[in-house]
Amino acid sequence: MTKQPTSREGKTSGRGTRDLKVRVKTAKGRKMSSKLWLERQLNDPYVARAKREGYRGRAAYKIIELDDKYRFLTPGARVVDLGCAPGGWCQVAVARVNALGEKSGKKIGRVLGLDLQEVDPIAGAEIHQLDFLSEGADDQVKEWLGGPADVVMSDMAASASGHKGTDHIRIVALVEAAAQLAFDVLEPGGTFVAKVLAGGAETEMQAMLKRNFDKVANVKPPASRSDSSEKFVVATGFRGRPDSAAGSETAVSLL
Ligand SMILES: C[S@@+](CC[C@H](N)C(=O)[O-])C[C@H]1O[C@@H](n2cnc3c(N)ncnc32)[C@H](O)[C@@H]1O
Repeated sequence: MTKQPTSREGKTSGRGTRDLKVRVKTAKGRKMSSKLWLERQLNDPYVARAKREGYRGRAAYKIIELDDKYRFLTPGARVVDLGCAPGGWCQVAVARVNALGEKSGKKIGRVLGLDLQEVDPIAGAEIHQLDFLSEGADDQVKEWLGGPADVVMSDMAASASGHKGTDHIRIVALVEAAAQLAFDVLEPGGTFVAKVLAGGAETEMQAMLKRNFDKVANVKPPASRSDSSEKFVVATGFRGRPDSAAGSETAVSLL
């Protein structure tokens, strides 16, 4: 049965065709860009689903779709979530790695999240506020972690500057820092997941990941908006920490 549109979903146009889109009026003081953003949010099925299912944002479905395909968030896994605000990925990870011990008979995992911004507490996750690009940030994360991890995932994104090249360099710097942490803390067999933007400068990083992981996939999950240039790299089967010489090479050759 076809669902009848509610008043929020739009109305029948004069020609008798249904317009299911919510249109937002340009109110005084509201910029065109925020009108379009609001319209997109109101018409996005993932936004509605996140509200219904209790996730803090539509981003949760990106990690759900990636994990449904690659199965890295297993019970007992120790996960580092970089750029975790408002917390959708953490919520998914807590449930899937059994961080609250709710799946009896299954191993209990751990979720450590961090972000520049403050994050409301999430039961089962340990969350810290930190700029991951600041001096000593990776050592701080290692200290909080207190041991190896099975998954390092990063959805970090710098706020857009409006300049494509600058934005690209910033996101590469974030991915590079995340990969560096992954090389340092991942257990052999571990997984690295990171958001990247299509644009070229990531070729070196892909090559580096291919040398250190059994498989490297570039994925655009269905929940990732088609008009966004974001994609995700999923590197599985970490081959073990590079020796110290290779490690220092890693630091300079990721870009
Ligand atoms: C797309 S959001 C992450 C959404 C999150 N995965 C979720 O499910 O709720 C990107 C986040 O990266 C964070 N971020 C950007 N640069 C960062 C940095 N240098 N250190 C820590 N977090 C950073 C931003 O504050 C932002 O909250």
